[in-house]
Amino acid sequence: MKDIVIVGHGGLAREVAFLIGEINRATPTWNLLGYIASDTESVSKTVGRHTVRGTDEWLSKSTKEIAVAIAIGQPSRLRTLHERFRQNPRLSFPNLIHPSVTGDWERIAMDSGNIVLNNASFTTDIKLGSLNIINPGVTIAHDCTLGGYNLINPGACLSGEVVLGDEILMGTGARVLQQLRLCSRSVIGAGAVVTRSIEKPGVYIGIPAREMNKVRA
Ligand SMILES: CC(C)(COP(=O)(O)OP(=O)(O)OC[C@H]1O[C@@H](n2cnc3c(N)ncnc32)[C@H](O)[C@@H]1OP(=O)(O)O)[C@@H](O)C(=O)NCCC(=O)NCCS
Repeated sequence: MKDIVIVGHGGLAREVAFLIGEINRATPTWNLLGYIASDTESVSKTVGRHTVRGTDEWLSKSTKEIAVAIAIGQPSRLRTLHERFRQNPRLSFPNLIHPSVTGDWERIAMDSGNIVLNNASFTTDIKLGSLNIINPGVTIAHDCTLGGYNLINPGACLSGEVVLGDEILMGTGARVLQQLRLCSRSVIGAGAVVTRSIEKPGVYIGIPAREMNKVRA
C-alpha cells in the first residue's frame, strides 16, 4: 500500500476520499494519510472519516514518498498547487479512476494527477493532460482532447472531437457539440449548450451558450 494525501478538505476532498476507498475495495492500493490544508489552524481537525494531516508547507517539504491527489474545485489553484508540489521529487500525482468508470483504456492516454469520479464514461481515442477533475456522470466521447487543470462538473457532456485548453470550468450539465474547441480559462455555465467554438476566455451561459456580460447587458 502506498501513502497518499488529499490536498483540500472541502466537499470535493471528501468525495476523493470516497473514491480512494472505492479503489481500495476493488484493489487494495492506497494508505490514505488524510487531508492537507493551507492553514495551520485546520491541522488535526476531523473531516468526514479522516483528519487534516498537515499543511501545504509540510507536504512540499516531505522527505517521504507520498502520492498526492489535489482536490480543489478551482482550476487556477489546481495549477498553482501542482507547480508548487512538483518541485519536490518525492511527491507523485497518480491518476485516480473510480472502478465504475468505463472506457476503451488501451486507447485513452492520461498524463498524471487526473481524478475521475464515479460513473463518468469515456469512449475511445481520448487524451487528457494533467490534473483534470472529471466529476460523476460526465461523458467524454471519441477523439476528445483535454489539456490540464480542467474542472468538469457533474453530468457535463463532451461530444466527439472536442478540444479543451487548460483551466476550464464546465458547469454541471453543460454540453459541448462535436468538433468544437474551447480556449483556456473559459467558464461554461451550468446547463449551457456550446454550439460554437470559444476563442476568448470569459463566462458563457445559456442555450446556445453566449458570453454572460453580453446576454445580461
Ligand atoms: C455561470 C456562473 C459561473 C456564473 O456565476 P456568477 O458570476 O457568480 O453568477 P451569479 O450567481 O451572480 O448569477 C448572475 C445571474 O446569472 C444567472 N445565472 C447564473 N448561472 C447561470 C447559468 N448557468 N445559466 C443561466 N443563467 C445563469 C443568475 O440566475 C443570475 O441572474 P439574476 O441576476 O437575474 O438573478 C455560475 O452560475 C455557474 O453556472 N457555475 C457552475 C456551477 C456548477 O457547475 N456547480 C456544480 C458544482 S459540483
